Amino acid sequence: MSKRLSRTVLGVAVLSLVTLGLPATASAGQHAKAERTVTDVVPAPVDAKPDPRASFRLSPATVIRTDREGKQVAEYLAGLLRPATGYRLPVVSGHRGGGPAISLETGHASGRVGSEGYQLKVSPSGVTLKANTDEGLFLGVQTLRQLFPSEIESKTVKKRSWVVSGGSVLDYPRFGYRSAMLDVARHFFTPDQVKLYIDQIAQYKINNLHLHLTDDQGWRIEIKSWPKLATVGGQTAVGGAPGGYYTQEQYKDLVRYAASRHITIVPEIDMPGHTNAAQHSYAELNCDGKAVPPRTDIEVGYSSLCIGKDITYKFVDDVIRELSAITPGKYINIGGDEAHSTSPEDYQTFATKVHPIVAKYGKTITGWHDIAKTNPPVSAVPQFWGTTGTDANVAAAAARGNKILMSPANKAYLDMKYHAQTPLGLSWAGLIEVKTGYDWDPATHLQGVTEKNVIGVEAPLWSETLITSDHIEFMAFPRLPGYAEIGWSPKDSRTWDAYRLRLAKQSPRWVQQGIDFYRSTQVDWK
Ligand code: ACM
Repeated sequence: MSKRLSRTVLGVAVLSLVTLGLPATASAGQHAKAERTVTDVVPAPVDAKPDPRASFRLSPATVIRTDREGKQVAEYLAGLLRPATGYRLPVVSGHRGGGPAISLETGHASGRVGSEGYQLKVSPSGVTLKANTDEGLFLGVQTLRQLFPSEIESKTVKKRSWVVSGGSVLDYPRFGYRSAMLDVARHFFTPDQVKLYIDQIAQYKINNLHLHLTDDQGWRIEIKSWPKLATVGGQTAVGGAPGGYYTQEQYKDLVRYAASRHITIVPEIDMPGHTNAAQHSYAELNCDGKAVPPRTDIEVGYSSLCIGKDITYKFVDDVIRELSAITPGKYINIGGDEAHSTSPEDYQTFATKVHPIVAKYGKTITGWHDIAKTNPPVSAVPQFWGTTGTDANVAAAAARGNKILMSPANKAYLDMKYHAQTPLGLSWAGLIEVKTGYDWDPATHLQGVTEKNVIGVEAPLWSETLITSDHIEFMAFPRLPGYAEIGWSPKDSRTWDAYRLRLAKQSPRWVQQGIDFYRSTQVDWK
């Protein structure tokens, strides 16, 4: 036999072992080199100890074992692992059988990990994931999936071995509120497009999705008592693009889908500015009683609800009532930004009337940080979107006890261009390369706002220039995982030099997932 032929024969033999799910390298006594270890996970875990000799090999005989509370997450995990492996991976309850297993257990985790944390141990005999809640299990599963080869993200069967990198992790978040925002008003994104984004952000342990549902260019949520908001106000979008809106049934389905990924939808009705679509739909919302023309340009600051009319508050009450009824989450976002056509006195009058409406329907206010100047209830969460390190109104709100959601526009706005030539996005808040987006801290960024004042971090994605899911992906990736890490990981565990190496190792997963990401030259992509 020639050398060449023997190599071919050996190759076939190895391939057939892999097909059977048997350890292809077992005879050589070697351990497959893992693409990623527990210390490569994004967001960085609190405590991670790799053990290269403790890898677990998934096989066609592996089962996913769980208790009653873990069943949904176990099915979700099976759904993640089945397409690429082609294995059955049945979800079984309790401790039946002694075969190889991935075990998901609720209620037995260390108190240290709290309600969102988890403990993960990967050893040759199996994988054990423990958490105090199903949410903790879900977040632990996001870590576990990163310990597989990237091809685990393939939607079709790949004939290969599936080695899970060995070691242990104990993990919990720095902030309980880790958010992304999608502007579905400037351009409309279908429910399926929103679900795709939900799946993309869930893998980085983001737990809130803020939907910017209304703006000058479009109204995107059905309000049954004001039907023309959707049927008229929903028809337009920036640049003459087709509009669209979510029926309440579609919205409820989105809320349920997000919940299955342990993500809470936070809906925004922007007011008293950014209201042209509503004022176009209903003449009575204008002080002169005349409907305004639709707007599809990207100017801001020209629209305002009519502060002196009673009908304005009937409108707000109806909208908040209907939206609250289909939103199980605690927060309703009342916008409040860039109300340049509302006088300061009117802005305060409007706030004083609207805050109790939100409370009446059992919801808590969040809104852009402009609301901080209206003395909102201490439960309200102003979202900082400024471009400097000082804001007296936000600092005063923090001093009164309001928690602040941090999304500084020059650091966290996903719609800002990466560099001057980026084909999509805007640049009014600056250019945000990957390092700029990562290298800041929410507890030291803003004067008068420290760790105890911060509820968490949000990465907003405005859609003036974005039309497709590819566009969303190109702006969100690779920056979004950085904001997720800022929100999740201990401050002292984060450095850019280490992060850029871990981030690079994420990209083969995005390739498998079909995520169209920006290949920043600041990162040595694989
Ligand atoms: C904003 O960017 N207008 C909140």
